[in-house]
This record gives sequence, structure tokens and C-alpha cells, in this order.
Amino acid sequence: MRVAGRGPAAILWPAVPAIYIETYGCQMNLADTELILGHVGAHGYAMVPTPDRADVVLLNTCAIRERAEERVVGRLTDLARLKRERPELVLGVCGCMAQHHRSHLTARVPALDVVVGPDAYRRLPALLDAARRRSAARGTPRATLDDPLIDVRLDPDETYADLPAARRDGAVRAWVTIMRGCDKFCTFCVVPFVRGRERSLPADAVLAEVRAAAARGAREVVFLGQTVNAYRDDACDFATLLARVSEIPGIARLRFTSPHPSDMSDALVRAMGTIPAVAPQLHLPVQSGSDAVLGRMARGYTVAQYRDLVDRLRATVPELALSTDVIVGFPEESPADFDATCRLLEEIGYDQAFLFKYSRRTPTRAARWPDSVPEDEKSRRLTHLIALQEGISAARNQRWVGRTVEVLVEGPARRSPGHVAGKTPQFTTVVLPGDVPAGMLVPVDVTAATAHTLLGEAPLTGRYRETPAAAD
Ligand code: SAH
Ligand code: SF4
Ligand code: F3S
Repeated sequence: MRVAGRGPAAILWPAVPAIYIETYGCQMNLADTELILGHVGAHGYAMVPTPDRADVVLLNTCAIRERAEERVVGRLTDLARLKRERPELVLGVCGCMAQHHRSHLTARVPALDVVVGPDAYRRLPALLDAARRRSAARGTPRATLDDPLIDVRLDPDETYADLPAARRDGAVRAWVTIMRGCDKFCTFCVVPFVRGRERSLPADAVLAEVRAAAARGAREVVFLGQTVNAYRDDACDFATLLARVSEIPGIARLRFTSPHPSDMSDALVRAMGTIPAVAPQLHLPVQSGSDAVLGRMARGYTVAQYRDLVDRLRATVPELALSTDVIVGFPEESPADFDATCRLLEEIGYDQAFLFKYSRRTPTRAARWPDSVPEDEKSRRLTHLIALQEGISAARNQRWVGRTVEVLVEGPARRSPGHVAGKTPQFTTVVLPGDVPAGMLVPVDVTAATAHTLLGEAPLTGRYRETPAAAD
């Protein structure tokens, strides 16, 4: 039992183990953290916001680029210090880096107690309990204990469809994982190795999750999957799923990320044009503007096919916002290949682009080829592309100035006191003065734009301002 407070009013309550989780990587990992917290929560663990009082510290990690992994190793070194002060602390790594390095990780960070891959979260409560029992029994630094607990079995059937996720009540946006894994094996990418084969949640489970999100107050749902549009549950493909979900009352906007260009069926393009709740926004990673590079990446499309897809999307979905991912410095990427990427970015005019330097990842196919573009040349290409895209993004955003957009308000703006922030249907952030409640859809007159944000005024803001005053 722990005693809270002092003196006669002190309350006694059973000690529950406290868990702190830090999340790295993509939205799927953030959604997995909610899943882990829901699952260990059902087994008696309570979440705490900092590591200093936690009984268990878990890092949910990413393996996509070397830099992502270096950050985690750095953080683990800090946390190992905490464990030296409190040997009973359980230190764990889960997620993609756990799967990528398995037992090698514990060789590198001897303080680690548990290493758990993305398909082993169901067994996490038992693993953490075992690690806590062991740490408490020994009370000595990790180096003198038994082997760490490692569970990195990939399971092609695991979808966690039945596990309760810890969701925030009142969150405007709900991220819902609808499929896991990837079968594409792009030659640069570690995801198929660390997340295993593609598998989809049953459509009924997805519908139930969206209904629950709507009941908690969510107005927007974002479906997640590494190749989200490869979703299939028997006869229900991704386009059908969107149509079924759009009938759920309360959900004003539906989005999904990341779709693979090869899985953008005609039915899906049509669905985007005809289902009003599906937002006019698409993250469509292109990776390169050169056919030679796309071929070596095994992306499964040519530049012409990608361009044709964009044309069809733009013809079907008015005011479609497009974003993308690009890798620079892929093995053998020539100056001419890179120029082709620059030209494609200019031609397509993406609203946003996420630009990365190629990072060699074992055990991918490309990792067997020489990493032929020197680091300083990769940096030069990246810097050039970032500058090019900033100009394009700024120009794209400028087109909204003077127009009225519908904003789904999410809450107070982070850097502007007295302002709230929300998103347009195109997923552009808008900052506006006032205290419009989160979850409201409001028309906003756009007055100014930067490369990443719009500024605006809501004609109705005054009314919301008056509400709290009237209640005084
Ligand atoms: N499933 C998504 C991509 C997920 S990974 C898709 O296929 O579109 C997110 C992005 O990280 C990728 O689009 C790619 O641009 C980048 N990326 C993946 N592996 C990388 C590597 N080895 N080096 C650099 N960037 C990489
Ligand atoms: Fe990686 Fe390609 Fe799968 Fe995307 S589609 S996760 S880039 S292998
Ligand atoms: Fe990283 Fe894993 Fe996501 S490798 S990008 S956290 S699926």
C-alpha cells in the first residue's frame, strides 16, 4: 500500500505499477502506444507523464532511418542512469527498433530488461510483470541479472482488433489503425522486416472503433496503415470501407495515411470524389522523379503512371491537397535523376513534402549495394529540395488568402495566446483569434499565409467570446 498525503486525512490505496511510455516514429507507433496503454492499463498499470516516478519506462521506437535509431540509443543511455539510481526500475524497448535489433540491442544497452516487437504487445503485461518481479527480487543492476526478456515473434494474424486502446476523451481527431504490416518490400525500406506481413482488421471492428470515437467526441477519423489502401476484409475493400464508415453519424471528416500509389484503385479515386466526408487531401509518397531510381527502389510505378494518377485524382476531387515523401541520395542517384525529382516536385506542386536523405537499412536489398552518393552530396541535394519545396508550399498556401475555408477547431494555438488552431479540409493548419470550442466547424476568412500555416478571422468568433463572459 502507498500512503498519499499526510496526517489523519491520509488515504491508503493499493500500489499500482506506474508506466511511462515515450513514442518515436510514425502515427502508427503513436496509435500503438495508445493500444499498449489500454492493454497494460487493463492489467493494472497506470500511466504517468514523466519517467522519474515510473516503475516501468518503455520506449516505443522507430527503425526507418539510422538517425531515428541513434536518438533512441542516446535516450536509453540517459535512462540507464536513472536505473543505476533505482535498480528496480524496468527499462524496455518496443516497436520497430526492438524488432530490428532484437538481442543485439541488449548487447549495446546492457541496462535493458525487455525487448518487445510490434506483434508481441498482447504478451506485454506478462513480460513486464516478470521483469518487475525479477528486478524487485534482485534489486541489483541489470548487468548481474538473467538474460533480458525478449519477445520479437512476428505474427501474420495479429491485428489487436479485440484489445482496448487508451483513448483521450474529447480529442477532435481519432487515429485508427485498420491494417498492419507491409508486403511491398521497396528495396530501401525496413518496414516489411520489422512489421511483418500485411493484415487487415475486420471491417466490423473498424466500424465499432469509429462509432466509439464518435461517441467520445471525435469529429475526424484518420485511418492508418503502412499501405492503408491495400486494406481488405473479404469482400470489403478500402473504398467500400470508406463508404460504410461515412454513414456513421458525428464524423465530419475522414482521412487516411499512407496510401501506396499502386493500390489507388479506380473505385478509391471515385470514392474520394463522391463521399462528402472523405477529405480532399492525400499523402501520396512518390520517393523519386526518375524512372531509373523508382525501378531500383521497386516502387511498382513509373513517373508517367504516378502523374496520370495525380491527374485523375485532381479531375475527381476539387481542391485536392497533395503531399509526398521523397528520398534523396538513393544508391546511384545521378545528378540527372535528382533534377528529374526537382522538376516533378515543381510540376505536381505538392502542398507539403517530407524530404529524407537515404539511410542504409539492413536487411533490405538496397543495403547490399554501395551507398554511392557521398554524405555531403546527399546534404546538398536535401538542402536544395527543401528550399525548392518551401517556395512551392508558400505559393500553394497563398491561394487561400482572401477565401473562406471551413475549419475544424482543435484547441488553443500552441504559440499564439488568445488564438485557437484547427485544420481545413485540406489538412492545412489555420490559426485564428478567439476561443472557439474544440470540435466546432467554423467558416474562417483567410487573411494571410506562410508555407505551413494560414491565419484567419472567424466571423462568428465574437459570439464564442461572449459565452464565458455571459456565464460570469
Ligand atoms: N508506407 C509508406 C512509407 C512509410 S515510411 C509508403 O510506402 O508510402 C515513411 C517514409 O520514410 C517513406 O515514404 C520514405 O520516404 C522514407 N524512408 C523509408 N525508408 C527510408 C530509408 N531507408 N532512408 C530514407 N528514407 C526512408
Ligand atoms: Fe516501406 Fe515500401 Fe512498404 Fe512503404 S510500401 S512501408 S516504403 S516497403
Ligand atoms: Fe518507424 Fe516503424 Fe513507423 S519503422 S516509420 S515507427 S512503422
